[in-house]
Amino acid sequence: YDNLNINEAGHLTIGGVDAVSLAEEYGTPLYVLDENIIRKKCRIYTEAMTRYFGNGSVPLFAGKALCFKGIYPIVEEEGLSADVVSPGEIYTALAAGFPAEKIYFHGNNKTDQDIRYGLEQHIGYFIVDNLNELRILNEAAGEMGVKQKILLRVTVGLDPHTLDAINTGKIDSQFGRAIETGQAEESVVQALACENLELCGYHTHIGSQIFESDPFCDQIDILLGFADDMRRKHGYTAGIFNIGGGFGVRYTESDPEVDIAENIRQISEHLKSHCEERNYPLPQVLMEPGRSIVADAGVTLYTTGGVKEIEGYRNYVMVDGGMTDNPRYALYQSAYTIVLANRMNDTADFRCTVAGRCCETGDRLAEDILLPKANRGDIAAVLTTGAYNYSMASNYNRIPRPAIVMVKDGAARLVVRRETFQDLIEREL
Ligand code: LLP
Repeated sequence: YDNLNINEAGHLTIGGVDAVSLAEEYGTPLYVLDENIIRKKCRIYTEAMTRYFGNGSVPLFAGKALCFKGIYPIVEEEGLSADVVSPGEIYTALAAGFPAEKIYFHGNNKTDQDIRYGLEQHIGYFIVDNLNELRILNEAAGEMGVKQKILLRVTVGLDPHTLDAINTGKIDSQFGRAIETGQAEESVVQALACENLELCGYHTHIGSQIFESDPFCDQIDILLGFADDMRRKHGYTAGIFNIGGGFGVRYTESDPEVDIAENIRQISEHLKSHCEERNYPLPQVLMEPGRSIVADAGVTLYTTGGVKEIEGYRNYVMVDGGMTDNPRYALYQSAYTIVLANRMNDTADFRCTVAGRCCETGDRLAEDILLPKANRGDIAAVLTTGAYNYSMASNYNRIPRPAIVMVKDGAARLVVRRETFQDLIEREL
């Protein structure tokens, strides 16, 4: 990581700021985000998509990876639109001044209230999942006298060889309607008959942690074939292809590095040649990166409570957070890179499991890793935690959620304050 370094004190620095002094000043656990890294990733997407896809193609930031007010002005300044999955995400984006027309509203089960809320807020696009949504959205838009732009979510029936739990492109997925079963076509026919809706194109998402362009190219083959079919059969030429999110990030050294721009170039070459073959007009392409925009920007700091050695079995290093601020190991056994931020020059020769503070055996952040043998009061830093950590955090065991500090060019600022005990009981009557 080009934003992580070691200073003369042997401490980890993040964006030029000493991680140990951040822990002292703001307390732990603490989420630290490097604004320059977020901006850099945004630019890689905007530049590559403009250059290779052209046609007004843009990335949408997938807020499910990291949603709080402060992220929206950053992604907006970098030219991204937003993928939201709930009215709560819409509310957050709008509260931060994000333009409604750049919002794309996902969700496989939008309630009637969600649909009304999205319409009332004049969001740009609904990504319509199913026929019920199509009908209710059309009715509500009619009542409100608006013509709402939509994309239809279709599934291409692809397995991009990722974890099953985060694979959403298969036919039996609860998201969208499958091309193969004819249900996607039915959606198109019905959408075209909706007077208050303007069908603008298709959306499809095949999964997460994808490290190469091939699955996206396969996805495009199926999607383009479908679009061409719809053109011939129903005279409808889709102008937008939203190909979803999913480029992977490097959590540990065993994960490959993804050259996002190069992958986008490959996908665009593929798309262009296949559009030419079919004489299909080049669509505007949308992508929905979440993880690959914010994961690398994040580091979580913890104070260790020391070690517990169970001779012949395992050693533990205890930290003052865990599955409440980062449930990804408990949920997916996701591997992380962990260091001791105050002892970066010490040899990592203590084989251990890093355990959190919850009353639950599964509360772990890593197993079978090497760290210097921790002392009570050392600062552990878990890298690559900018995505799906804060956004998936909970108050299990009544643990307040950590603060978020944004660092940039050697300076730090608080962007989300730490929850208090009062916050925990605030809504309880
Ligand atoms: N678009 C759609 C329709 C999605 O379902 C997702 C992720 C994204 C975009 C963003 O994908 P990304 O670029 O972040 O890979 N909680 C899991 C990840 C679930 C992802 C679900 N959908 C995790 O912590 O790994």
